[in-house]
Amino acid sequence: MSRYKPDPNTGVNLTIDGMSVTVPEGTRILEAAEKLNIKIPTLCEHPDLCKRGLCRICVVECDGRGKLAAACANDVWEGVNIVTVNKRLSKIRRTIVELILANHPQDCLFCVRSKNCELQKLAKVYGILDAPFGNVSDENLSRAESKTLVRDMGKCVKCGRCVEACQEIQTIGAINTSHRSVEYSICSAYNLALEDGPCVFCGQCAGVCPVGAIFVYDQSAEVLAAIAANDAPAIAAVSPSLASALERELAAGAVTAGKMISAVRLLGFKKVYNADMAANAANSEICGEVKQRIKSGATLPLISGCSEGVIRFIKNFYPGLEGNLSKVKNPRRSFAASCKNHYAKEAGMPLSSVISVSFVPCIAQKYTAESDDKDFALTAGELARMIKLSGIIMENLPEEQFDAFPCKPPEQDTPVKKETVHGYAQARSVMEAVSRGECDAQWVEILSCPKSNCS
Ligand code: FES
Repeated sequence: MSRYKPDPNTGVNLTIDGMSVTVPEGTRILEAAEKLNIKIPTLCEHPDLCKRGLCRICVVECDGRGKLAAACANDVWEGVNIVTVNKRLSKIRRTIVELILANHPQDCLFCVRSKNCELQKLAKVYGILDAPFGNVSDENLSRAESKTLVRDMGKCVKCGRCVEACQEIQTIGAINTSHRSVEYSICSAYNLALEDGPCVFCGQCAGVCPVGAIFVYDQSAEVLAAIAANDAPAIAAVSPSLASALERELAAGAVTAGKMISAVRLLGFKKVYNADMAANAANSEICGEVKQRIKSGATLPLISGCSEGVIRFIKNFYPGLEGNLSKVKNPRRSFAASCKNHYAKEAGMPLSSVISVSFVPCIAQKYTAESDDKDFALTAGELARMIKLSGIIMENLPEEQFDAFPCKPPEQDTPVKKETVHGYAQARSVMEAVSRGECDAQWVEILSCPKSNCS
């Protein structure tokens, strides 16, 4: 039986809270309401993900149906009269939030998402100041830490966003659902640690989690404490392009690369090097490797990635293409090691005493950082927390320059035919083409973020 496909060229007339609106067929109630500037509360809904209709916070009344409908999961229809606000709906939504809170640890003060938590915001909207259903949250649910992501399953509201980000957006399947009804839960395969499954540490799951159930492993306090201990020598590598991510995290006026360098120095770093030098040197080496392969008749394309996650992706899902992986060493680690060497020599101090921190756009870089070797990889979010914790006001900072680092400029290579893919869904279709011998690129670079905002 064929499913009816809405025609976006057909207009649907309806009223929402007494206001008329015409929207294309296939528009969800939530979107039609937005057109009238009516904000219906949501929790499981996320603009980048498919409709799921799990939490029911967004219920509205639709005449002619008699029942409540989830605004995020139902399309509008001709002539419908929708009500989004009344006493009955407020009571229902409030009860739903109270029920979710009854199964949620009440330790907001100590939660990483405090003040930035969608559940906390809803509790505030509905004026929830007590727990009428008590608290039955399972204190035994584990908090699993890895070098990249932390899962605190006691806080999970089972909205399914992380599952969809992992399965549908990134096609990895490291996180899944299990059981039904009250036993329903979000878990990894066989409840293994993420590191022991196919996870590629792209962090998309943490990016869509509405609460503090999955988040990036935060080492900002650890690094600040390490620097403060005996005024330990610390050096940093940071890319100028991280300034825009830092600006988003700090949400406090324009952050330029020069101000970011100033802030990093104020945090106690003795030297601040330009991490782009590492990327340029690595690209040049990879070009050389491609040409070497062309010369020797080895298989193409050469496959490289922005992080260890890409290597895990190929090994887990395309083991037949392992031979295509670039042999160029992890540029972040190599550069961090060179900077450390250079600084230790210049300052005449033992290499083992120097702390090196790379500020990176991708959380998967944390996977190869070894804090035991005083080698850290921190995200823009962690840098923002260090800046806030240290009371640095970005607006007041001068523009500064990177410290000079003696690095051979990369040799000018004749360009090779390169294809850059964003995210693992796109990577999967390119790898399928490579496996079928239908990819004519000489070099395929995989960036783990599905949006083209990482480079
Ligand atoms: Fe609509 Fe969750 S936001 S059901």
